[in-house]
Amino acid sequence: MHSARSSSHGSDVLVIGGGIIGLVTAWRAAQRGLRTAVVDPGPGGGAAQVAAGMLAAVTELHYGEQTLLGLNLASAERYPAFAAELEAASDGQDIGYRACGTLAVALDADDRSHLRELHALQRRCGLDPEWLTGRECRRLEPMLAPGVRGGLRVDGDHQVDPRRLAKALVTACERAGVAFHRAWAERLTLARDRAAGAVLADGTALSADQVVLAAGSLSGRLAGVPADVLPPVRPVKGQVLRLTVPRPYAPFLSRTVRAVVRGGPLYLVPRENGELVVGATSEELGWDTTVTAGGVYELLRDAHELVPGITELPLTETRAGLRPGSPDNAPMLGPTALPGLHLATGHYRNGVLLTPVTGDAMAAVLATGELPHEALPFTPRRFSPVVQEQPV
Ligand code: GLY
Repeated sequence: MHSARSSSHGSDVLVIGGGIIGLVTAWRAAQRGLRTAVVDPGPGGGAAQVAAGMLAAVTELHYGEQTLLGLNLASAERYPAFAAELEAASDGQDIGYRACGTLAVALDADDRSHLRELHALQRRCGLDPEWLTGRECRRLEPMLAPGVRGGLRVDGDHQVDPRRLAKALVTACERAGVAFHRAWAERLTLARDRAAGAVLADGTALSADQVVLAAGSLSGRLAGVPADVLPPVRPVKGQVLRLTVPRPYAPFLSRTVRAVVRGGPLYLVPRENGELVVGATSEELGWDTTVTAGGVYELLRDAHELVPGITELPLTETRAGLRPGSPDNAPMLGPTALPGLHLATGHYRNGVLLTPVTGDAMAAVLATGELPHEALPFTPRRFSPVVQEQPV
């Protein structure tokens, strides 16, 4: 433990966590004229270094997540303009936004039933992806296994490269005047019953009018946050592989291909630079980020069933990251019951997709005190203990 050193570091907004969610919040806040600082030992790191970058609003729809669908679609719609603006604000860095679409396929009768159910849910939500036969799927993607039984063509589910996104956001923040404190935040500080800043692991004390807790799956572990506003986030491990299509690139996949294999979601995301990302496991193992032989084996086994030719490709990287899961799989955005403390966390499977809308929502609430309407259902207060009225 360090005793807090007094410091002249003061800002309007202090963002704790420099992953893509913290960075987009800081960038957008600085654009609104707020003096903004970010605390993170390695800005641009975190789950974005592992994520595949699917913008899968439609293909990752699940029962009970129809409200989240609205936010996901709003963010997907903003991506082209967001990518162009970020590129301009980051000295021309290309974030790998690729309007390639997605094909969700079924390998056997059970998968096909699952995909039919998903299609029915999508239609009830006003979406209408096209159902394709196995033959039509293979005409679109000739590398698919001959046994593919059918699929859904979702032309609006695109991709971005999360590593490039994170790097560009760091640059955009720097250009917008965001101050970076490259250290761990050790605890939140309070003054007169409101959030007032943070003390860092090196003892530096930072003060701010408003604090945003955007530390991904670590957001529930910051000391000093009162229990009733501590975000209920948990780490959900995902192991991800990266393969490389050798130059000159033979046609491999032209769009994201995904399937449910043996009950688990599997996806292959092809980048224009030849990288092929294969993901992902979903494991509730706490803070474990070990890449296991079993995880790699299962991903390769399932990916091989879907696209047999992948076994010819060099396996260039294996990595595990932690999704910040919330109790309802949706993010927590905006003010908590503690004045001055906001949350931007709990994005679970959709952090990359939700980056544009999160930045807009957080900047709006930080600058005006009001969350935009699309973000209102995602207030952290939905998880606050119900305060019972006392009879008078
Ligand atoms: N959205 C993909 C994943 O979480 O694995």
